[in-house]
Amino acid sequence: MSQALIISDNEVLNDLYSVNLEVYTGTNVTVKRNCDEAIKLLELNPNFDVIISLCMLSDIDSGSIIYQHLVENDIDSPLIVVGKKSDVPKDVPQVVGCYDIKNLIRNVAKVLEISAKDMVDKAVPDYYPVPIKLFYNVQKVPCDIFLKLKKSMTDIEYPKIFSKGDSPSVGIKKYLDEGVHFLYVDSTMRLEIINLASACILTELNALGDPGVTDEKKIEVIEQGIEIVADKLFTENEVNEEIIELSKSCMSSVKDVVENNPKLKNILKLLTANRASYLYSHSIIATYVATHIVKTISWGGESHIDKINFVFFFHDLYLAPIYSKYPELKYEEEALFNSKLEDSEKEVILNHAKLAADALANYPRLPLGADQIILQHHGMTSGQGFAVNFKDDISPLAKVMIIAEGFTEELLRTLEDTTAEKLTKPEIIKALHIKFPRHTYKKIIETLNELKF
Ligand SMILES: [Fe+2]
Ligand SMILES: [Fe+2]
Repeated sequence: MSQALIISDNEVLNDLYSVNLEVYTGTNVTVKRNCDEAIKLLELNPNFDVIISLCMLSDIDSGSIIYQHLVENDIDSPLIVVGKKSDVPKDVPQVVGCYDIKNLIRNVAKVLEISAKDMVDKAVPDYYPVPIKLFYNVQKVPCDIFLKLKKSMTDIEYPKIFSKGDSPSVGIKKYLDEGVHFLYVDSTMRLEIINLASACILTELNALGDPGVTDEKKIEVIEQGIEIVADKLFTENEVNEEIIELSKSCMSSVKDVVENNPKLKNILKLLTANRASYLYSHSIIATYVATHIVKTISWGGESHIDKINFVFFFHDLYLAPIYSKYPELKYEEEALFNSKLEDSEKEVILNHAKLAADALANYPRLPLGADQIILQHHGMTSGQGFAVNFKDDISPLAKVMIIAEGFTEELLRTLEDTTAEKLTKPEIIKALHIKFPRHTYKKIIETLNELKF
């Protein structure tokens, strides 16, 4: 059995990682809560097959401390860092989101040289243990859940205590009080428990509404929520209850962050501090800009704000898997010309507006016209391709969206480019007037003069 060392002070993650590593890769896990303890253990036993560290532990860059220790002591155990705030060389695998269990497993399997087939074929006991604490956050259990009862030395029974779909929250306390640490699932169902990760992120997202939660924390957790929603939407291709719940939580936190920060500069700072991805950053900034536009323009009003939040949340979700595969990608249209991308991926980029609009067709109580706005967010009424000439025949909020994204793109370009002279806000506005010469767009662009930078 391979051995993994996890360095993390987050109990939920420790349980999630331990159980998933065992299920998928047959890895035995040791957890240390901080770098000092981990280093002490590594001095005694440097032979771990893989070491996984969260990127930051109580404001210390644990990823880089562990990396240094491994290098200085010639320990060749592979390191995987979870999170993106660590200063480690590029060749150290980094799993961006702490709930991205799939990606973590993929990386561990790679360093352990386990193939996908090995993972499926792995011999497992009939009943599989799952730490009971993981069920705290779960509203409905994803499969039947059993308790292990030792009748005698040789006689063990597994009575069922929850059926698939039950809410464990009421009954579970009794078992906790009895000192039960593990509950069990039928091992053929063990892959279902990966779903527990999204239940945990939902708990974390919902807690973002609590007083005292910083905007920086919100920005960090929302990004992970979006990743999970994108992943689910991409694989399931329709909106289900889980996606709705996760996205609602994310959207309400995005709204909070936008409202809490009257200046765009603050939002940019938050995104930079979190090393947020391009796709996520541009969505948040554009949400901010579009919120400003509908608050300022004569026909706009409060009723548009939730719609703006909604459309920005979903508009590019089909791009997310491509952007996480190629993190260097930036501006959407340019991604089309990147030679690394496969044809099928370019196809998705061309059609991403239509794909998102179609997937939302069965979203209950869809904000009126939101699917239409998403469909048209690159100026094409078909939702396919990118407009060159921006016409009048699309909905007014789609135009707001296009201008907000246009402004955001110019802004990010000028911030990014260290060689060229920085464009000022009036210069960006001027460029937009040239790109969008029609009258209906002009009215929208003019509201940007009042945008607080
Ligand atoms: Fe976009
Ligand atoms: Fe887009």
